[in-house]
Amino acid sequence: MKSEYNKDIYIRHFKEADIPALLNLIAQIASSEDLTKIAHIQFSNELASPDHEGSRFVATLDGLVVGTMGCARGPIPSSQALWADWLIVDSDYQRCGIASLLYSEIEKYAFERGKRYLCLDIGNIDKERAAYLFHLNNGFQIIGQLPDYWCDYEHLNIMAKFLTSRK
Ligand SMILES: CC(C)(COP(=O)(O)OP(=O)(O)OC[C@H]1O[C@@H](n2cnc3c(N)ncnc32)[C@H](O)[C@@H]1OP(=O)(O)O)[C@@H](O)C(=O)NCCC(=O)NCCS
Repeated sequence: MKSEYNKDIYIRHFKEADIPALLNLIAQIASSEDLTKIAHIQFSNELASPDHEGSRFVATLDGLVVGTMGCARGPIPSSQALWADWLIVDSDYQRCGIASLLYSEIEKYAFERGKRYLCLDIGNIDKERAAYLFHLNNGFQIIGQLPDYWCDYEHLNIMAKFLTSRK
């Protein structure tokens, strides 16, 4: 699958017309909350704020949006860090290297702006094994955990990567 697709995948900044496709991807994340509503508000605010610090990318294959990821100042803003968010790859196109390509762009973006760290709240590492293993294999470490932070058995897990060079 990897060799079939990865040379044809194109990464670019997202634009307003991508929002429905991004929300379709986000709808693939199982959650008791309506994540699409939260994401729609966030994406619209980003596009409407010229001084927004951060960026959002989409991965396309034959013009179809198959993955997305963004970064922003996040919940604990610092001049040294950006927080990654809304990483999702269409379930039909996973394990083709798409998330790795998106991360390369995000890391390059953060490094070029003098950031030392890329951080994220990885969520439940027992349920989200793919996300956890993906980040471990991409140089992230768990640097903080608060058990039952969100609710019973839903821990806060913060992962971070020290950015040493452009990817
Ligand atoms: C996590 C996710 C983004 C990975 O996207 P992807 O495009 O499939 O990832 P890549 O193909 O770039 O994977 C790179 C490496 O990460 C690891 N990895 C990715 N998915 C994995 C899985 N399901 N199991 C084990 N390792 C995995 C592997 O080391 C993989 O390399 P390999 O395929 O050569 O073995 C994708 O599974 C996804 O969208 N999951 C649902 C949403 C989600 O959990 N988002 C993250 C929120 S923090």
